[in-house]
Amino acid sequence: DHAYDMIVVSNRLPVDYEEQPDGGIGWKSSPGGLVTALEPVMRAADGAWIGWAGVADREFDPFEHDGISIIPVPLSESELEEYYEGFSNDTLWPLYHDVIAPPSFHREWWDAYVRVNRRFAEAAARAASDGAVVWVQDYQLQLVPKMLRESRPDLVIGFFNHIPFPAYGIYSQLPWRRQVIDGLLGADVIGFQRVADAGNFSRAVRRLFGYRTHGTVIDVPDTDATSNEGDVRRVVARAFPISIDAAGFEEMARRPEVQRRAAEIRESLGNPETIILGVDRLDYTKGIRHRMKAFGELLRDGRLNVEDVTLVQVASPSRERVETYRQLRDEIELTVGRLNGDYATLGHQAIAYLHHGYPRDEMVALYLAADVMLVTALRDGMNLVAKEYVACRFDGDGVLVLSEFAGASDELRQAVLVNPHDIEGLKDAIVEAVRMPRRERTRRMRALRRRVIDNDVAKWSASFLETLTGAGIITAGVT
Ligand code: G6P
Repeated sequence: DHAYDMIVVSNRLPVDYEEQPDGGIGWKSSPGGLVTALEPVMRAADGAWIGWAGVADREFDPFEHDGISIIPVPLSESELEEYYEGFSNDTLWPLYHDVIAPPSFHREWWDAYVRVNRRFAEAAARAASDGAVVWVQDYQLQLVPKMLRESRPDLVIGFFNHIPFPAYGIYSQLPWRRQVIDGLLGADVIGFQRVADAGNFSRAVRRLFGYRTHGTVIDVPDTDATSNEGDVRRVVARAFPISIDAAGFEEMARRPEVQRRAAEIRESLGNPETIILGVDRLDYTKGIRHRMKAFGELLRDGRLNVEDVTLVQVASPSRERVETYRQLRDEIELTVGRLNGDYATLGHQAIAYLHHGYPRDEMVALYLAADVMLVTALRDGMNLVAKEYVACRFDGDGVLVLSEFAGASDELRQAVLVNPHDIEGLKDAIVEAVRMPRRERTRRMRALRRRVIDNDVAKWSASFLETLTGAGIITAGVT
Protein backbone atom coordinates (compact mmCIF):
# COMPACT_ATOMS: atom_id res chain seq x y z
CA ASP A 1 0.00 0.00 0.00
CA HIS A 2 1.34 3.39 -1.09
CA ALA A 3 1.35 6.16 1.53
CA TYR A 4 0.89 9.71 0.30
CA ASP A 5 2.44 12.90 1.72
CA MET A 6 -0.34 15.08 0.32
CA ILE A 7 -3.99 14.11 0.22
CA VAL A 8 -7.06 16.00 -0.89
CA VAL A 9 -10.40 14.75 0.42
CA SER A 10 -13.58 15.98 -1.25
CA ASN A 11 -17.06 14.59 -1.68
CA ARG A 12 -16.72 14.47 -5.44
CA LEU A 13 -13.69 13.19 -7.29
CA PRO A 14 -12.38 15.23 -10.24
CA VAL A 15 -13.83 12.47 -12.41
CA ASP A 16 -17.31 10.96 -12.46
CA TYR A 17 -17.97 7.35 -13.32
CA GLU A 18 -19.58 6.85 -16.70
CA GLU A 19 -20.93 3.53 -17.93
CA GLN A 20 -19.68 2.81 -21.45
CA PRO A 21 -21.99 1.52 -24.19
CA ASP A 22 -19.95 -1.72 -24.19
CA GLY A 23 -20.46 -2.11 -20.41
CA GLY A 24 -16.91 -1.01 -19.54
CA ILE A 25 -15.82 1.68 -17.06
CA GLY A 26 -15.17 5.22 -18.27
CA TRP A 27 -14.43 8.49 -16.44
CA LYS A 28 -15.50 11.99 -17.36
CA SER A 29 -14.61 15.32 -15.74
CA SER A 30 -17.08 16.22 -13.01
CA PRO A 31 -18.85 19.58 -12.67
CA GLY A 32 -18.34 22.38 -10.21
CA GLY A 33 -15.89 24.97 -9.06
CA LEU A 34 -14.05 22.80 -6.59
CA VAL A 35 -12.67 20.44 -9.19
CA THR A 36 -11.73 23.30 -11.51
CA ALA A 37 -9.75 24.86 -8.70
CA LEU A 38 -7.95 21.85 -7.28
CA GLU A 39 -7.06 19.78 -10.30
CA PRO A 40 -3.99 21.83 -11.27
CA VAL A 41 -2.80 21.84 -7.65
CA MET A 42 -3.02 18.08 -7.38
CA ARG A 43 -1.31 17.41 -10.65
CA ALA A 44 1.67 19.42 -9.41
CA ALA A 45 1.78 17.80 -5.95
CA ASP A 46 1.80 14.12 -6.98
CA GLY A 47 -0.70 13.46 -4.24
CA ALA A 48 -3.80 11.33 -3.85
CA TRP A 49 -7.39 12.43 -4.19
CA ILE A 50 -10.02 10.71 -2.06
CA GLY A 51 -13.68 11.10 -3.04
CA TRP A 52 -16.89 9.67 -4.38
CA ALA A 53 -17.19 8.52 -8.01
CA GLY A 54 -20.65 10.04 -8.49
CA VAL A 55 -22.63 6.79 -8.62
CA ALA A 56 -24.26 4.69 -5.88
CA ASP A 57 -23.65 1.06 -4.98
CA ARG A 58 -20.40 0.66 -6.93
CA GLU A 59 -16.92 0.00 -5.58
CA PHE A 60 -13.83 0.90 -7.57
CA ASP A 61 -10.17 0.16 -6.97
CA PRO A 62 -7.76 3.11 -6.76
CA PHE A 63 -6.46 4.23 -10.15
CA GLU A 64 -4.44 6.92 -11.90
CA HIS A 65 -6.10 9.65 -13.91
CA ASP A 66 -4.18 12.41 -15.71
CA GLY A 67 -1.27 12.08 -13.30
CA ILE A 68 -3.43 12.09 -10.15
CA SER A 69 -3.89 9.05 -7.87
CA ILE A 70 -7.60 8.55 -7.34
CA ILE A 71 -8.96 6.68 -4.31
CA PRO A 72 -12.74 6.20 -4.67
CA VAL A 73 -14.99 6.03 -1.58
CA PRO A 74 -18.26 4.13 -2.12
CA LEU A 75 -21.74 5.39 -1.21
CA SER A 76 -24.83 3.21 -1.04
CA GLU A 77 -28.11 4.34 -2.58
CA SER A 78 -29.53 5.27 0.84
CA GLU A 79 -26.36 7.19 1.73
CA LEU A 80 -26.62 9.06 -1.53
CA GLU A 81 -30.16 10.04 -0.54
CA GLU A 82 -29.49 10.87 3.10
CA TYR A 83 -25.91 12.14 3.21
CA TYR A 84 -25.53 13.74 -0.25
CA GLU A 85 -28.97 14.78 -1.48
CA GLY A 86 -30.36 15.09 2.04
CA PHE A 87 -28.03 16.53 4.63
CA SER A 88 -25.46 18.07 2.26
CA ASN A 89 -27.76 19.52 -0.36
CA ASP A 90 -31.13 19.92 1.34
CA THR A 91 -29.93 20.92 4.83
CA LEU A 92 -26.47 22.51 4.71
CA TRP A 93 -26.59 23.99 1.19
CA PRO A 94 -29.73 26.11 1.69
CA LEU A 95 -28.78 26.95 5.30
CA TYR A 96 -25.30 28.15 4.37
CA HIS A 97 -26.73 30.15 1.44
CA ASP A 98 -28.82 32.26 3.80
CA VAL A 99 -31.95 30.06 3.60
CA ILE A 100 -32.85 31.21 0.06
CA ALA A 101 -34.70 27.89 0.06
CA PRO A 102 -35.93 26.42 3.35
CA PRO A 103 -33.52 23.82 4.77
CA SER A 104 -34.92 20.47 5.91
CA PHE A 105 -33.71 19.02 9.19
CA HIS A 106 -33.91 15.24 9.56
CA ARG A 107 -32.17 13.18 12.22
CA GLU A 108 -31.66 10.19 9.88
CA TRP A 109 -29.88 12.46 7.41
CA TRP A 110 -27.57 13.66 10.16
CA ASP A 111 -26.80 10.05 11.15
CA ALA A 112 -25.88 9.24 7.56
CA TYR A 113 -23.71 12.38 7.39
CA VAL A 114 -21.76 11.22 10.45
CA ARG A 115 -21.37 7.71 9.05
CA VAL A 116 -20.17 8.84 5.64
CA ASN A 117 -17.81 11.46 7.10
CA ARG A 118 -16.27 8.66 9.16
CA ARG A 119 -15.74 6.57 6.04
CA PHE A 120 -13.91 9.44 4.31
CA ALA A 121 -11.80 10.04 7.44
CA GLU A 122 -10.85 6.36 7.60
CA ALA A 123 -9.87 6.32 3.94
CA ALA A 124 -7.63 9.36 4.49
CA ALA A 125 -6.11 7.84 7.65
CA ARG A 126 -5.21 4.70 5.67
CA ALA A 127 -3.64 6.54 2.74
CA ALA A 128 -1.67 9.20 4.62
CA SER A 129 2.05 8.83 5.32
CA ASP A 130 3.49 9.79 8.70
CA GLY A 131 3.05 13.55 9.18
CA ALA A 132 1.27 13.96 5.83
CA VAL A 133 -0.74 17.00 4.85
CA VAL A 134 -4.45 16.25 4.43
CA TRP A 135 -6.62 18.93 2.88
CA VAL A 136 -10.35 18.39 3.40
CA GLN A 137 -12.80 20.23 1.12
CA ASP A 138 -16.21 21.71 1.58
CA TYR A 139 -19.47 21.44 3.50
CA GLN A 140 -20.11 17.77 2.78
CA LEU A 141 -17.14 16.77 4.98
CA GLN A 142 -17.07 19.10 7.96
CA LEU A 143 -16.68 16.32 10.52
CA VAL A 144 -13.63 14.78 8.85
CA PRO A 145 -10.98 17.07 10.44
CA LYS A 146 -11.84 16.06 14.01
CA MET A 147 -12.32 12.36 13.15
CA LEU A 148 -8.96 12.36 11.40
CA ARG A 149 -7.15 14.13 14.24
CA GLU A 150 -8.46 11.57 16.72
CA SER A 151 -7.07 8.61 14.80
CA ARG A 152 -3.98 10.34 13.33
CA PRO A 153 -2.68 13.16 15.57
CA ASP A 154 0.54 13.20 13.49
CA LEU A 155 -1.22 14.68 10.45
CA VAL A 156 -1.34 18.30 9.38
CA ILE A 157 -5.00 18.93 8.61
CA GLY A 158 -6.49 21.74 6.53
CA PHE A 159 -10.10 22.45 5.68
CA PHE A 160 -11.48 24.77 3.02
CA ASN A 161 -15.13 25.80 2.88
CA HIS A 162 -16.04 26.59 -0.73
CA ILE A 163 -19.46 27.99 0.06
CA PRO A 164 -20.49 30.87 2.33
CA PHE A 165 -20.57 30.51 6.11
CA PRO A 166 -23.75 32.18 7.36
CA ALA A 167 -24.31 34.66 10.18
CA TYR A 168 -24.95 33.16 13.61
CA GLY A 169 -28.69 33.90 13.55
CA ILE A 170 -29.00 31.54 10.60
CA TYR A 171 -26.29 29.04 11.47
CA SER A 172 -27.75 28.52 14.93
CA GLN A 173 -30.89 26.96 13.40
CA LEU A 174 -28.85 23.83 12.77
CA PRO A 175 -29.74 21.25 15.44
CA TRP A 176 -26.19 19.87 15.19
CA ARG A 177 -24.49 23.28 15.24
CA ARG A 178 -22.06 22.31 18.01
CA GLN A 179 -21.00 19.00 16.46
CA VAL A 180 -20.28 20.63 13.08
CA ILE A 181 -18.07 23.35 14.54
CA ASP A 182 -16.35 20.84 16.78
CA GLY A 183 -15.67 18.73 13.67
CA LEU A 184 -14.14 21.68 11.81
CA LEU A 185 -11.97 22.69 14.75
CA GLY A 186 -10.07 19.43 14.30
CA ALA A 187 -8.25 21.23 11.47
CA ASP A 188 -5.12 23.36 11.92
CA VAL A 189 -6.29 25.87 9.32
CA ILE A 190 -9.90 26.52 8.29
CA GLY A 191 -10.18 28.52 5.09
CA PHE A 192 -13.13 30.58 3.88
CA GLN A 193 -13.86 32.52 0.70
CA ARG A 194 -14.61 35.92 2.23
CA VAL A 195 -13.42 37.80 5.30
CA ALA A 196 -17.09 37.97 6.31
CA ASP A 197 -17.41 34.15 6.23
CA ALA A 198 -14.39 33.73 8.51
CA GLY A 199 -15.88 36.36 10.84
CA ASN A 200 -19.21 34.51 10.97
CA PHE A 201 -17.40 31.30 11.82
CA SER A 202 -15.31 32.85 14.62
CA ARG A 203 -18.42 34.43 16.10
CA ALA A 204 -20.21 31.08 16.07
CA VAL A 205 -17.22 29.50 17.84
CA ARG A 206 -17.32 32.17 20.55
CA ARG A 207 -21.09 31.98 20.97
CA LEU A 208 -21.28 28.19 21.11
CA PHE A 209 -18.03 27.28 22.86
CA GLY A 210 -16.74 30.46 24.44
CA TYR A 211 -13.23 29.85 23.02
CA ARG A 212 -10.96 32.87 22.82
CA THR A 213 -10.14 34.29 19.41
CA HIS A 214 -7.45 36.84 18.54
CA GLY A 215 -7.63 38.07 14.99
CA THR A 216 -7.64 34.98 12.81
CA VAL A 217 -6.47 32.64 15.59
CA ILE A 218 -8.77 30.54 17.77
CA ASP A 219 -7.49 28.96 21.00
CA VAL A 220 -8.96 25.47 21.11
CA PRO A 221 -8.45 23.36 24.26
CA ASP A 222 -6.02 20.58 23.38
CA THR A 223 -7.53 17.21 24.18
CA ASP A 224 -4.66 15.10 22.85
CA ALA A 225 -3.71 12.22 25.20
CA THR A 226 -0.29 13.74 25.85
CA SER A 227 -1.53 17.25 26.58
CA ASN A 228 -1.63 19.05 29.92
CA GLU A 229 -4.47 20.89 31.56
CA GLY A 230 -4.85 24.32 29.96
CA ASP A 231 -2.94 23.51 26.74
CA VAL A 232 -4.43 25.08 23.66
CA ARG A 233 -4.13 24.32 19.97
CA ARG A 234 -4.02 27.42 17.82
CA VAL A 235 -6.42 27.05 14.92
CA VAL A 236 -6.25 29.61 12.13
CA ALA A 237 -9.60 30.63 10.56
CA ARG A 238 -9.31 33.15 7.75
CA ALA A 239 -10.17 34.03 4.19
CA PHE A 240 -8.34 32.54 1.19
CA PRO A 241 -10.38 33.64 -1.85
CA ILE A 242 -10.21 30.83 -4.38
CA SER A 243 -9.36 31.37 -8.03
CA ILE A 244 -8.82 29.69 -11.39
CA ASP A 245 -6.00 28.67 -13.68
CA ALA A 246 -6.09 32.08 -15.35
CA ALA A 247 -3.20 31.43 -17.76
CA GLY A 248 -4.79 28.16 -18.86
CA PHE A 249 -8.06 29.90 -19.72
CA GLU A 250 -6.29 32.68 -21.57
CA GLU A 251 -4.17 30.21 -23.51
CA MET A 252 -7.31 28.39 -24.62
CA ALA A 253 -9.03 31.66 -25.55
CA ARG A 254 -6.10 32.56 -27.81
CA ARG A 255 -6.37 29.36 -29.85
CA PRO A 256 -7.51 30.10 -33.40
CA GLU A 257 -10.03 27.25 -33.41
CA VAL A 258 -11.67 28.56 -30.23
CA GLN A 259 -11.93 32.03 -31.73
CA ARG A 260 -13.42 30.55 -34.88
CA ARG A 261 -15.95 28.76 -32.71
CA ALA A 262 -16.83 32.05 -30.96
CA ALA A 263 -17.55 33.65 -34.34
CA GLU A 264 -19.61 30.63 -35.33
CA ILE A 265 -21.69 30.95 -32.15
CA ARG A 266 -22.47 34.59 -32.92
CA GLU A 267 -23.35 33.62 -36.47
CA SER A 268 -25.68 30.84 -35.37
CA LEU A 269 -27.58 33.26 -33.11
CA GLY A 270 -28.33 35.44 -36.15
CA ASN A 271 -25.46 37.88 -35.61
CA PRO A 272 -27.00 39.96 -32.84
CA GLU A 273 -25.25 43.17 -31.92
CA THR A 274 -25.05 42.07 -28.30
CA ILE A 275 -24.80 38.63 -26.74
CA ILE A 276 -25.56 38.45 -23.04
CA LEU A 277 -24.39 35.26 -21.34
CA GLY A 278 -25.26 33.44 -18.16
CA VAL A 279 -23.42 30.26 -17.13
CA ASP A 280 -24.49 28.44 -13.99
CA ARG A 281 -25.22 25.11 -12.47
CA LEU A 282 -29.01 25.02 -12.42
CA ASP A 283 -29.21 26.12 -8.77
CA TYR A 284 -31.57 28.44 -6.89
CA THR A 285 -28.60 30.29 -5.41
CA LYS A 286 -27.58 31.59 -8.83
CA GLY A 287 -30.38 34.12 -9.33
CA ILE A 288 -31.32 32.80 -12.77
CA ARG A 289 -34.99 33.71 -12.23
CA HIS A 290 -34.12 37.28 -11.22
CA ARG A 291 -31.95 37.63 -14.30
CA MET A 292 -34.74 36.41 -16.58
CA LYS A 293 -37.28 38.65 -14.94
CA ALA A 294 -35.09 41.70 -15.51
CA PHE A 295 -34.34 40.69 -19.10
CA GLY A 296 -38.01 39.98 -19.84
CA GLU A 297 -39.07 43.38 -18.52
CA LEU A 298 -36.41 45.11 -20.63
CA LEU A 299 -37.87 43.42 -23.72
CA ARG A 300 -41.41 44.28 -22.62
CA ASP A 301 -40.52 47.93 -22.03
CA GLY A 302 -38.73 48.11 -25.37
CA ARG A 303 -35.44 49.11 -23.72
CA LEU A 304 -33.93 46.03 -25.37
CA ASN A 305 -34.96 44.37 -28.59
CA VAL A 306 -34.56 40.76 -29.76
CA GLU A 307 -33.23 41.96 -33.11
CA ASP A 308 -30.21 43.38 -31.29
CA VAL A 309 -29.78 41.37 -28.12
CA THR A 310 -29.86 37.64 -27.29
CA LEU A 311 -29.52 36.12 -23.86
CA VAL A 312 -27.68 32.79 -23.87
CA GLN A 313 -28.28 30.86 -20.66
CA VAL A 314 -26.24 27.74 -20.03
CA ALA A 315 -27.79 25.94 -17.04
CA SER A 316 -25.89 22.75 -16.38
CA PRO A 317 -27.91 19.94 -14.77
CA SER A 318 -27.32 19.62 -11.04
CA ARG A 319 -28.72 17.60 -8.08
CA GLU A 320 -31.69 16.66 -10.18
CA ARG A 321 -33.34 14.35 -7.68
CA VAL A 322 -33.62 17.05 -5.00
CA GLU A 323 -37.14 18.52 -5.08
CA THR A 324 -36.12 22.20 -4.86
CA TYR A 325 -33.93 21.71 -7.92
CA ARG A 326 -36.74 20.04 -9.88
CA GLN A 327 -39.09 22.89 -9.09
CA LEU A 328 -36.49 25.44 -10.10
CA ARG A 329 -35.97 23.70 -13.42
CA ASP A 330 -39.71 23.71 -14.13
CA GLU A 331 -40.01 27.39 -13.27
CA ILE A 332 -37.05 28.41 -15.39
CA GLU A 333 -38.15 26.39 -18.38
CA LEU A 334 -41.64 27.86 -18.09
CA THR A 335 -40.15 31.35 -18.03
CA VAL A 336 -37.89 30.67 -21.02
CA GLY A 337 -40.86 29.33 -22.97
CA ARG A 338 -42.98 32.35 -22.08
CA LEU A 339 -40.30 34.89 -22.95
CA ASN A 340 -39.52 33.26 -26.25
CA GLY A 341 -43.23 32.91 -26.99
CA ASP A 342 -43.83 36.58 -26.24
CA TYR A 343 -40.75 38.18 -27.77
CA ALA A 344 -38.89 35.88 -30.17
CA THR A 345 -39.25 36.27 -33.92
CA LEU A 346 -38.62 33.57 -36.51
CA GLY A 347 -35.04 34.76 -36.95
CA HIS A 348 -34.23 35.81 -33.36
CA GLN A 349 -34.67 34.05 -30.06
CA ALA A 350 -34.99 36.06 -26.87
CA ILE A 351 -33.27 33.39 -24.80
CA ALA A 352 -31.15 30.53 -26.05
CA TYR A 353 -31.46 28.09 -23.15
CA LEU A 354 -29.08 25.15 -22.88
CA HIS A 355 -29.60 22.54 -20.18
CA HIS A 356 -26.22 20.86 -20.63
CA GLY A 357 -22.71 20.85 -19.31
CA TYR A 358 -20.09 21.68 -21.94
CA PRO A 359 -16.38 20.97 -22.29
CA ARG A 360 -13.96 23.71 -21.33
CA ASP A 361 -13.15 24.85 -24.89
CA GLU A 362 -16.83 25.37 -25.75
CA MET A 363 -17.26 27.45 -22.57
CA VAL A 364 -14.26 29.56 -23.50
CA ALA A 365 -15.70 30.16 -26.98
CA LEU A 366 -18.96 31.28 -25.34
CA TYR A 367 -17.07 33.66 -23.04
CA LEU A 368 -15.34 35.15 -26.07
CA ALA A 369 -18.63 35.56 -27.89
CA ALA A 370 -20.33 37.23 -24.91
CA ASP A 371 -20.39 41.03 -24.88
CA VAL A 372 -21.98 41.02 -21.45
CA MET A 373 -21.56 38.35 -18.76
CA LEU A 374 -24.33 38.18 -16.17
CA VAL A 375 -23.50 36.76 -12.73
CA THR A 376 -26.51 37.50 -10.55
CA ALA A 377 -26.12 35.01 -7.68
CA LEU A 378 -28.26 35.62 -4.59
CA ARG A 379 -25.48 34.00 -2.57
CA ASP A 380 -22.31 32.36 -3.85
CA GLY A 381 -19.11 31.38 -2.06
CA MET A 382 -16.93 32.79 -4.84
CA ASN A 383 -18.34 32.22 -8.37
CA LEU A 384 -15.52 31.10 -10.62
CA VAL A 385 -17.50 31.80 -13.80
CA ALA A 386 -16.93 35.52 -13.21
CA LYS A 387 -13.17 34.95 -13.00
CA GLU A 388 -13.14 32.61 -16.01
CA TYR A 389 -14.85 35.24 -18.16
CA VAL A 390 -12.30 37.86 -17.19
CA ALA A 391 -9.36 35.50 -17.74
CA CYS A 392 -10.57 34.70 -21.27
CA ARG A 393 -10.95 38.33 -22.38
CA PHE A 394 -7.36 38.92 -23.51
CA ASP A 395 -8.88 41.32 -26.06
CA GLY A 396 -9.70 43.65 -23.14
CA ASP A 397 -13.35 43.78 -24.15
CA GLY A 398 -16.54 42.49 -22.52
CA VAL A 399 -18.53 43.72 -19.54
CA LEU A 400 -19.01 41.75 -16.33
CA VAL A 401 -22.22 42.37 -14.38
CA LEU A 402 -21.60 40.88 -10.95
CA SER A 403 -23.75 40.35 -7.87
CA GLU A 404 -22.39 41.81 -4.67
CA PHE A 405 -23.57 38.59 -3.00
CA ALA A 406 -20.96 36.52 -4.86
CA GLY A 407 -17.61 36.25 -3.08
CA ALA A 408 -15.90 37.38 -6.29
CA SER A 409 -17.27 40.90 -5.77
CA ASP A 410 -14.80 41.48 -2.91
CA GLU A 411 -12.04 41.39 -5.52
CA LEU A 412 -13.69 42.31 -8.81
CA ARG A 413 -14.62 45.87 -7.87
CA GLN A 414 -14.51 47.17 -11.45
CA ALA A 415 -17.38 44.98 -12.55
CA VAL A 416 -20.83 46.53 -12.81
CA LEU A 417 -21.91 45.52 -9.29
CA VAL A 418 -25.58 44.72 -8.69
CA ASN A 419 -28.05 43.69 -6.03
CA PRO A 420 -30.04 41.03 -7.92
CA HIS A 421 -33.06 41.45 -5.61
CA ASP A 422 -33.41 44.99 -6.91
CA ILE A 423 -34.97 44.27 -10.30
CA GLU A 424 -34.97 47.94 -11.37
CA GLY A 425 -31.29 48.24 -10.45
CA LEU A 426 -30.53 45.01 -12.29
CA LYS A 427 -32.33 46.26 -15.41
CA ASP A 428 -30.37 49.51 -15.32
CA ALA A 429 -27.12 47.59 -14.88
CA ILE A 430 -27.88 45.38 -17.88
CA VAL A 431 -28.66 48.40 -20.04
CA GLU A 432 -25.54 50.17 -18.80
CA ALA A 433 -23.47 47.11 -19.70
CA VAL A 434 -25.03 46.79 -23.16
CA ARG A 435 -24.44 50.46 -23.95
CA MET A 436 -21.06 50.93 -22.24
CA PRO A 437 -18.59 52.81 -24.46
CA ARG A 438 -15.53 50.89 -25.62
CA ARG A 439 -13.07 53.00 -23.64
CA GLU A 440 -14.79 52.33 -20.36
CA ARG A 441 -15.15 48.63 -21.12
CA THR A 442 -11.44 48.39 -21.71
CA ARG A 443 -10.54 50.40 -18.64
CA ARG A 444 -12.64 48.17 -16.40
CA MET A 445 -11.61 44.90 -18.03
CA ARG A 446 -7.94 45.79 -17.75
CA ALA A 447 -8.26 46.30 -14.00
CA LEU A 448 -10.29 43.11 -13.59
CA ARG A 449 -7.75 41.11 -15.55
CA ARG A 450 -4.85 42.34 -13.47
CA ARG A 451 -6.65 41.14 -10.36
CA VAL A 452 -7.50 37.68 -11.71
CA ILE A 453 -4.12 37.05 -13.36
CA ASP A 454 -2.17 38.13 -10.25
CA ASN A 455 -4.33 36.00 -7.97
CA ASP A 456 -4.65 32.65 -9.71
CA VAL A 457 -5.40 29.26 -8.22
CA ALA A 458 -1.71 28.37 -7.82
CA LYS A 459 -1.31 31.38 -5.56
CA TRP A 460 -4.45 30.41 -3.64
CA SER A 461 -3.28 26.89 -2.89
CA ALA A 462 0.29 27.99 -2.15
CA SER A 463 -0.97 30.55 0.32
CA PHE A 464 -3.28 28.04 2.02
CA LEU A 465 -0.64 25.31 2.19
CA GLU A 466 2.02 27.72 3.47
CA THR A 467 -0.27 28.81 6.27
CA LEU A 468 -1.08 25.16 6.96
CA THR A 469 2.48 23.91 7.23
CA GLY A 470 3.40 26.86 9.45
CA ALA A 471 0.44 26.18 11.74
CA GLY A 472 -0.45 23.43 14.19
CA ILE A 473 1.47 25.06 17.01
CA ILE A 474 0.47 24.03 20.49
CA THR A 475 0.90 26.63 23.19
CA ALA A 476 1.49 25.27 26.67
CA GLY A 477 -0.21 26.33 29.83
CA VAL A 478 -2.39 29.24 28.83
CA THR A 479 -5.03 29.53 31.52
C1 G6P B 1 -20.24 23.60 -5.60
C2 G6P B 1 -19.72 22.97 -4.31
C3 G6P B 1 -18.90 21.71 -4.62
C4 G6P B 1 -19.69 20.79 -5.52
C5 G6P B 1 -20.16 21.51 -6.78
C6 G6P B 1 -21.02 20.63 -7.69
O1 G6P B 1 -19.18 24.15 -6.33
O2 G6P B 1 -18.95 23.90 -3.58
O3 G6P B 1 -18.56 21.06 -3.44
O4 G6P B 1 -18.93 19.67 -5.87
O5 G6P B 1 -20.92 22.64 -6.40
O6 G6P B 1 -22.11 20.10 -6.99
P1 G6P B 1 -22.31 18.54 -6.84
O7 G6P B 1 -23.38 18.37 -5.81
O8 G6P B 1 -22.73 18.06 -8.19
O9 G6P B 1 -21.00 17.93 -6.42
